This record gives sequence, structure tokens and C-alpha cells, in this order.
Amino acid sequence: MKLKFIFSCCLFIAVLGSNDAVFSQTKKTAKTVTKVTTTTRSAAGKKDIEAGKMLISKSDCMGCHSLENKMVGPAYITIAQTYPMTDANVTALSQKIINGGSGKWGQIPMTPHPGITSPDAKKIVKYILSLKK
Ligand code: HEC
Repeated sequence: MKLKFIFSCCLFIAVLGSNDAVFSQTKKTAKTVTKVTTTTRSAAGKKDIEAGKMLISKSDCMGCHSLENKMVGPAYITIAQTYPMTDANVTALSQKIINGGSGKWGQIPMTPHPGITSPDAKKIVKYILSLKK
């Protein structure tokens, strides 16, 4: 009788143990899948985003914009929350950086940046829009 009890205890622990193993295996698999998806998504424009971050730091943008707070112009995070990362938005916003303009966020105009090429402006926009949380 006692032996039977010990035996069923062992069985119980064994089941628990193996369940745990299965569980952590599943967790591991789920983690791997997530990792793969993130890599694929960011790989699309990762190089552009990195380049955009560098270009933005070399220009005068930070004089009127900050990452999280509205200054003369809107915060980059607010811009990112307003515009989804689509080709149309990237093109339109890159033109706005080059040509300047006002009316979207208020009456204060953004100065034009004719020295920034269109491909560079697109990289900058991709960096800004990647800041969406
Ligand atoms: C003189 C101040 C100033 C500077 C310098 C400046 N901005 Fe702006 N920016 C603004 C203002 C003001 C707005 C809002 C314009 C509006 O209401 O349409 C704006 C808007 C924007 C927008 C959103 C445009 C839209 O249509 O929604 C982006 C993107 C942007 N700026 C990026 C940049 C980048 C990149 C640089 C540097 C190359 C830069 N800005 C430099 C003042 C500035």
C-alpha cells in the first residue's frame, strides 16, 4: 500500500516534470518565432533607418524638433504616431523636409532643406516613422 503511494507520487512528479519540459519547449519555440518575425520586418529598412538617424543628427532638425516633446515643430514620436510607414507617406514627408511648409501642425512653417537629397530625406523619414511605439 505504502509502496503504491510512493509509486503514484513518483508518477505524479514525473508527469509534472515532463509537462514542464513540454511547456518550456513551447515557450522557447514561441520566442524563436517572434524573433524571426521581428528580424524580417526590421530588415526591410534597417540600413535606411540607421542612415536616417545619422543624417538627422548632422542637420539642423534638432533645433526645432525633439524626440518626445513638441518644440517649434512636432515631436518625432508624434509624427510617427500620425503617419503609418507607407511609401506614400515616406515620399510626401520627404518632400516636405526638402521644400518646407506649414499648415499640418500649425501656422509656423518648417524651413526648406534644399541641401538634402530625396533619397536621404526618405531615409530620415523612415527613421522618424520607425520611432512609433
Ligand atoms: C525652423 C524650425 C524647423 C527645422 C529646422 C526643422 N523643422 Fe520639421 N517642422 C517644423 C514645423 C514648424 C513643422 C510643422 C509644419 C506644419 O505644420 O505643416 C515641422 C514638421 C515636420 C515634419 C512633419 C511634416 C508633416 O507634413 O506632417 C517632419 C517629418 C519634419 N518636420 C522633419 C524635419 C527634419 C527631418 C528636419 C531636419 C532636416 C526638420 N524637420 C527641421 C519646424 C522645423
